[in-house]
Amino acid sequence: MRRNAQPWGRTDRYAVTVSNQIAVVPGSFDPPTLGHLDVIRRAADLYDRVHVVVVHNPGKEALLPIAQRLVLLEQSIAEAGVPAERVTVASWSVGLLVDYVTEVGASVLVKGIRSQVDVTYEAPMAVVNRNLAGVETVFLLPDPALALVSSSLVRQVAALGGDVSPYVPGAVARFLDTGSGA
Ligand code: PNS
Repeated sequence: MRRNAQPWGRTDRYAVTVSNQIAVVPGSFDPPTLGHLDVIRRAADLYDRVHVVVVHNPGKEALLPIAQRLVLLEQSIAEAGVPAERVTVASWSVGLLVDYVTEVGASVLVKGIRSQVDVTYEAPMAVVNRNLAGVETVFLLPDPALALVSSSLVRQVAALGGDVSPYVPGAVARFLDTGSGA
């Protein structure tokens, strides 16, 4: 039997772009962390366009208004060198997240998974979103160095006057430090 030169359908490229697809990266982003930026950058490597969508989560007490999170996301994405033409930053507060996904012609949600706790939290939402609108969720593993970073941790350290710069993009660290991001 002749051996296939490229078994298992592999290509000679390390990363394969999922062509002509729009992905939605949703979250509270209160505030955006280095873990969020890692997932956004990886999603932008995989998909043609990425919509980063700030969703109001009524279950969490907010630190920043949604408009401020949008500004910080835009600044952080630019700082991270993610091509601006590939990324749209938006907010969504009316109705289901899958309504936004279908409205912009996206096909998947992309989320980061740091631990088993995230799997337990995310799995039911992924199944419900698939049942509601056929929207699949793709889970990406962030850089292990960022596995312990969370917005809630940053909110707590910031509220108590600690240094959050190891956990957040520069724009967010400057904003939380000075209140202006300047
Ligand atoms: O960063 P977070 O707080 O973990 O993000 C959670 C978020 C906003 C992605 C989640 O709460 C969500 O998907 N909200 C949308 C509301 C919705 O559509 N619910 C029904 C299906 S799960």
